[in-house]
Amino acid sequence: MEEEVPSIPGNAGIDPVVALECPWIEKYRPETLNDVVAHKDILTTLDRFLEQDRLPHLLLYGPPGTGKTSTVLALAKKVFGPKYKSMTLELNASDDRGIDVVKKEIKDFAGTRTIFGLIVLLCRTGFKMIILDEADNMTQTAQFALRRIIENYTANARFCLICNYVNKIIPALQSRCTRFRFSPLTSADIQGNLERILDKENIKATPDALKAVEKISGGDMRKCLNILQSSSMASKEVTVESIYECTGDPNPSDVMWITHSLCNDSFEDCYHKIFEIQREKGLALIDIVRAVHEQIIKHDLPSVPFCRLLESLSDLEYRLTAATNEKIQLGSFVGMFGQLKEELASQPCK
Ligand SMILES: Nc1ncnc2c1ncn2[C@@H]1O[C@H](COP(=O)(O)OP(=O)(O)OP(=O)(O)O)[C@@H](O)[C@H]1O
Ligand SMILES: [Mg+2]
Repeated sequence: MEEEVPSIPGNAGIDPVVALECPWIEKYRPETLNDVVAHKDILTTLDRFLEQDRLPHLLLYGPPGTGKTSTVLALAKKVFGPKYKSMTLELNASDDRGIDVVKKEIKDFAGTRTIFGLIVLLCRTGFKMIILDEADNMTQTAQFALRRIIENYTANARFCLICNYVNKIIPALQSRCTRFRFSPLTSADIQGNLERILDKENIKATPDALKAVEKISGGDMRKCLNILQSSSMASKEVTVESIYECTGDPNPSDVMWITHSLCNDSFEDCYHKIFEIQREKGLALIDIVRAVHEQIIKHDLPSVPFCRLLESLSDLEYRLTAATNEKIQLGSFVGMFGQLKEELASQPCK
């Protein structure tokens, strides 16, 4: 008797064996426009374009993990159905997209009409789709070349440009496209999607843990799913502790404790306390600096010393991204608060 293959929770269309090992970000990539969480106004507009058969060239931009690529892929599936792979040319940053590719590959693809109108009938449309993902990495020359190509091949092809930084797209290209901004996902959208996925995966998570994932991710659904999947592999129940252990971010209680020490202890005590907690929990100084900054910004401090502190913190963050010596930078970090304390003490009482 044949053994029954267990059904895999999540989206359809994935081989069950592959789905078991699949990262959640791919397993739960939206298959249709309806599966895309949030951005309902954008999705409704795209639907309306399709209904009226007037799909323009598109430029989708916004921070990572907000659903830009997923939306365009779901759109292509809706337009072309099962033939979508042969009707779309997808190029991303890992492909060479210099002037030669724009001139040759895109021109070749956009320049050929569908075979004898056969695919046209099957797909309800006479155009092909060219998806230029991570378009902000395209060279300026390639972008300039694309201006003419977009104009010349509008009858045959629709271009979908996707990027994080819209300023890196030349204005002439921007004006040829209808722009949509994908903003970071809201708390409700993230919580709803995470709960749905945890339910399908049959994994338990505390509400505080989901709040922590949301906070760390900053509205990036890809980051949320990656954190949740690794954390669920490490422990039976996903908790706040397992989330912070998994990401290596400082736990909120540690951040409170560090901030308290920075504001109250002597230089020496504070330096050693932070050094110890870093060693014990494997925390990077840059993550501590960012977390303390978030705490500090909530306080109501006199403006001059406060601005000086914020400026120093921003310089420190910059230095830390340049792989400087962490011990020396930790000294500078603790020193900033010593200076702040002195400045506050020397201020005349009001
Ligand atoms: N709005 C969303 N609805 C549902 N899932 C989402 C959404 N946004 C992101 N995801 C999840 O995150 C994964 C990555 O999303 P996607 O590739 O669409 O992001 P992106 O906006 O293109 O990011 P990047 O700018 O880094 O390319 C998807 O496979 C999906 O699992
Ligand atoms: Mg993308």
